[in-house]
Amino acid sequence: MRILFIGDIVGKLGREQLENYLPKMKATYKPTLTIVNGENAAHGKGITEKIYKDILRMGADFMTMGNHTYGQREIYDFIGQANRMVRPANFPDEAPGIGMRIIKVNDKDVAIINLQGRSFMTAIDCPFKKVDELIEEASKITPYIFVDFHAETTSEKNAMGWYLNGRVSAVVGTHTHIQTSDERVLSHGTAYITDVGMTGYYDGILGIKKDEVIERFITSLPQRHNVPDEGRKVLSGVIIDLKQDGTAKKIQRVLINDDHPFE
Ligand SMILES: [Fe+2]
Ligand SMILES: [Fe+2]
Repeated sequence: MRILFIGDIVGKLGREQLENYLPKMKATYKPTLTIVNGENAAHGKGITEKIYKDILRMGADFMTMGNHTYGQREIYDFIGQANRMVRPANFPDEAPGIGMRIIKVNDKDVAIINLQGRSFMTAIDCPFKKVDELIEEASKITPYIFVDFHAETTSEKNAMGWYLNGRVSAVVGTHTHIQTSDERVLSHGTAYITDVGMTGYYDGILGIKKDEVIERFITSLPQRHNVPDEGRKVLSGVIIDLKQDGTAKKIQRVLINDDHPFE
């Protein structure tokens, strides 16, 4: 089983980059399952039904989300039917959507879990206790368990990786939009990376036009964050190879931009 995971798709440029490279990546890497993080797909905040469907049409099989899940009002209308999407599982039960889905990939079941961190983020339920419940449920059905841990701090993500070592196939971090170079298979067979990185505008700050962000740091005044419609683009991802028993054999980073062209 080979999983291709692509980090936070930010706005139009992120969608364009995905559309441009996903077919080439699928031809080269031949993943069994392709998952993308779509929390920023609609102009940096949330996702619309049209964009959700467009991304699946581009070749993604499944989508994880994050703190921007409810950034577009219309998510409330379609998340109930969006059976190729998970939002952080440790959101309150009242939040629409679900945090784990078990899907069929060829003839195998794969559990996909989305969690959100609590350090420097909105206070929600404990992701560690929540994931224990979900693993208990999933492991009765399948050894293939994939976790997208959407969190701010390296320490919380590192802690989740080691906490789940040997209990899940992979823990990949998202949310910071900066790819880390610490990908590895942990001692009991869990593939891990602190952050996969983002897909979108390459010459901005986390996919956003840089001037407003710099201005905000200098003045401490609120600024509108704009996602550009044109410019150079980046795609960030990982490829994870799993063995029959659900443990990981290998994790490899993918970074595509003008400084790291796709070969
Ligand atoms: Fe994000
Ligand atoms: Fe996020």
